[in-house]
Amino acid sequence: MPLSDLARITGVELRENAHLAPLTSFGIGGHADLLIIPKTLQALESVLAVLTARGIPFRILGKGSNLLVDEGRQGVVITMLSAPGSIEKIASDGPGRLITVPAGCPLGSLISWSLREGLTGIEHLAGIPASVGGAIAMNAGTPEGSMEDVTEAVLLVSPDGSPRWIPSNAIGFRYRGIDIPHRSVIAAARIRLEVASDPAGIARAIWSTMKTRRLRQPLGKKSAGCVFKNPDGDLAGRLIDSCGLKGHRIGSAQVSEKHANFIVNLGGAGFSQVARLMDLVRERVFHETGRTLDPEIQIWRRQAA
Ligand code: EPU
Repeated sequence: MPLSDLARITGVELRENAHLAPLTSFGIGGHADLLIIPKTLQALESVLAVLTARGIPFRILGKGSNLLVDEGRQGVVITMLSAPGSIEKIASDGPGRLITVPAGCPLGSLISWSLREGLTGIEHLAGIPASVGGAIAMNAGTPEGSMEDVTEAVLLVSPDGSPRWIPSNAIGFRYRGIDIPHRSVIAAARIRLEVASDPAGIARAIWSTMKTRRLRQPLGKKSAGCVFKNPDGDLAGRLIDSCGLKGHRIGSAQVSEKHANFIVNLGGAGFSQVARLMDLVRERVFHETGRTLDPEIQIWRRQAA
């Protein structure tokens, strides 16, 4: 591990043997051999350059809210969550306001900021527990729209450490994902919002989104959000529900009684309990409906010893 090389970089916090479970919304997971927390863009560039030059693989952690982590060792993990930086308005042609947002900014903070500024376009994303970078990487969204609708460009730091702005039509947005070069890191995003004609409507829309979410989703429980993607023309939650799986448990992992496409950690659930419950759900849904469910959540398997 090039600890000394990394320790020489200004603006980087290094944590050896860092416990990952507390950094995920599931509360499940093992240890990063090394957790790297770059605090500036320059620090991120230098970190990527060192890791790439030495051929050291790494993973990127956002807010850990769409992630199931195995209990084993997870190698080198970079997180941008502590990266400072503020939301900035930038001059641009075109409608509305163009802003630059650091990748580590919580999506909820961006939504609160846009409410204060009277800007509209992301109210329906309220309650998604992601960082802006993570939300873009997953093209997070709802049936009303997703991150691709408002993202104009992302600042990608490539494995050799060079940063460049990539326009959204070159990011390969798709349903719950994007296509960016392997091991590139999203450092910031340019988001275009509209000036609201009725600013009070923004608060109403956020409130209504949160109310629906609280009614339909097990928000107070440890989970990683929707576990499976909605298959073409159907809804994963409806399919799982139709198989009578709500409430089904393996150990402390349970198919939510509120929303069948959530698995909740009732306390002390391990990776294998959740993984086995996901397999059971997929098999049962396939057997009873003929539909194949693909995971929406990211799964980090343990690294070979
Ligand atoms: N349904 C059931 N049983 C259930 C759950 C849902 O029958 O247990 C049926 C109902 O008919 C319900 C319909 O499915 O009306 C749609 O449910 P919901 O509105 O919850 O939408 P969803 O398609 O299940 C999607 C996103 C959610 C997002 C909601 C916002 C995916 C996989 N999920 O859920 O995103 O919060 O819309 O409405 O696209 C996530 O990405 O982690 C996530 C939770």
